[in-house]
Amino acid sequence: ILEFFLLPLFAYLLGSVPWGLILTRIFTSQDITQKGSGNIGATNVRRVAGTTLGLLTLLGDISKGAVPVYIAISMTGLNDMRGELFVSLVSLSAFSGHLCPVFTKFKKGGKGVATAAGCFLVISPMACFVTVLVFILFICWQDRVSVSSLAAAAVLPVAVWEAVHSEIITGCAVIITLFIYLRHKDNIRRILSGTELTG
Ligand code: G3P
Repeated sequence: ILEFFLLPLFAYLLGSVPWGLILTRIFTSQDITQKGSGNIGATNVRRVAGTTLGLLTLLGDISKGAVPVYIAISMTGLNDMRGELFVSLVSLSAFSGHLCPVFTKFKKGGKGVATAAGCFLVISPMACFVTVLVFILFICWQDRVSVSSLAAAAVLPVAVWEAVHSEIITGCAVIITLFIYLRHKDNIRRILSGTELTG
């Protein structure tokens, strides 16, 4: 029974590891929160510190969602309400760790896109595939990750519902989408005024 309390805690702590902040500080001595969009995510790391560190940040942030969710599914499965609730709880814990990291005193958190992708990559590879496809289409069209993230996030709950037909998991996806939109409010403002950064 202890692990049912420990895994959400582990997910939150792992989600709190700000890979973008750490990698740019170690390898370029820069403070990512003061550069580009100021976000700690892979997009801004790539913008400020190059593709290699951007990719490493992306991998790190995806793992923060994928690893705890993988453990959760191997503990409870996803075939009943108990499993769905537990996997949703673990997903939201990892996601909230990325948004409000304990290691940076709950400040400087990211926008949650890669960590959410990691969670849903494990929950439903099919829903993740559809969402990533939307993301890629928008990137080809606009060359702005924020626009693509918002489009993909809008599609996520629908794709999840179609793939798993679970109210609980879909509810989890809706919450994640809402927070991704809230975290992109400055991006949305810039998109509307035509001043959004590329990349
Ligand atoms: O996942 C974050 C991305 O959608 C936007 O990043 O740095 O352009 O605000 P950024």
